[in-house]
Amino acid sequence: MTVRIGFIGAGGRTVREMRDLVHIPAAEIVALCDIDEPRCAAAVESVNGALPERASPIQPGLFSNHRAMLDAVELDAVYISLPPVAHGQIDHDVIAAGIAVLIEKPLAIELSVAKEIAAHIAETGVVHAVGYQRRYSPSVGQTRKLLAGKTIGMVMAVRWGPLPPLPRWIVQEQSGGMLIDQHTHGVDLMRYFVGEPDTIYAAADTVLLTDVPGLDIFDVNAATVRFKNRAVGLIGNSPAAHAAIPPNVTHALHILAKDLTVMAGFDSTTYWRPGQPPETITSDQDSNFLLNQTFVNAVANNTQDGILSSYADALRSFAFTYAAQKSAELRREVRLTDNLEVAPL
Ligand SMILES: NC(=O)c1ccc[n+]([C@@H]2O[C@H](COP(=O)([O-])OP(=O)(O)OC[C@H]3O[C@@H](n4cnc5c(N)ncnc54)[C@H](O)[C@@H]3O)[C@@H](O)[C@H]2O)c1
Repeated sequence: MTVRIGFIGAGGRTVREMRDLVHIPAAEIVALCDIDEPRCAAAVESVNGALPERASPIQPGLFSNHRAMLDAVELDAVYISLPPVAHGQIDHDVIAAGIAVLIEKPLAIELSVAKEIAAHIAETGVVHAVGYQRRYSPSVGQTRKLLAGKTIGMVMAVRWGPLPPLPRWIVQEQSGGMLIDQHTHGVDLMRYFVGEPDTIYAAADTVLLTDVPGLDIFDVNAATVRFKNRAVGLIGNSPAAHAAIPPNVTHALHILAKDLTVMAGFDSTTYWRPGQPPETITSDQDSNFLLNQTFVNAVANNTQDGILSSYADALRSFAFTYAAQKSAELRREVRLTDNLEVAPL
């Protein structure tokens, strides 16, 4: 079966996804929509300018309104890659049309918005995935296997990097800040490896980027976490670092378990075990490509099998970052309850 795919949002992320999809024979890119319509043509040009050998240029229908796209084109799947603040009605419109959907992280800025989308997906049962591509990395799968059944004591997730070149990114109301928008990948892996958080106590401030006009996000974030299984965790991130800092500093996730220590870098992971030399696994497969391939297969076979990040699961990662953000704003420890309410302690 050919999977006919449309995109809502024609920015950098959509170009990245389309560049993967042109390598997947079952995927056909048939429609693209952006309220800033010239971005659609620019995205198509960018993909056609770097096509794999023997691939035909893509020629999707271009739209400035997602409803017009949904009405005009028969679609099997839609990718929603929007500024975080734009999630809500658009997600509901796609789900109500019964079309499979790949929704980018972060799911929204407000938890209530994402909870309503989660309920709608559960009600309709559409095939869906969320863009936590790091879960598809073979080294992440290997780490999960090695950790299975082990007692985990401690986890640390660090992300330091430069400010992304997107004007909305420095505005809290539009991006949610670094923890919600970007370090969500690290927090999601914390959950994937360690389990569900119970309480979170964060300290955050704007200290280093006070000379950036219009910036109102925290630029230094530090949070401590108690997990339900009694492990403890540290989360640290900042968008005030230089781009040249090596990835093992900027994307680090360290886990201390009984008889196993793990350092998961961006695409390689090292394991230390008693009585054994250290072992490093480097992934030779691109995790983003694997996400896209898995999603296309899932849509073609009308199944959730193989999808490693459902919306309901991603909602828990979003709620985790949201709770840490609230803790920093309130300057109080908070509990993330079972029904994903943030309760100040
Ligand atoms: N999974 C990942 O690793 C990863 C990487 C990059 C970005 N992302 C996420 O993808 C999303 C998009 O990021 P981006 O870098 O492409 O942003 P971007 O700003 O480059 O693109 C977003 C596009 O959405 C368009 N848009 C806004 N409102 C719209 C609407 N109502 N209808 C149609 N189009 C609309 C904008 O005009 C813009 O062209 C963000 O949530 C970002 O966090 C995820």
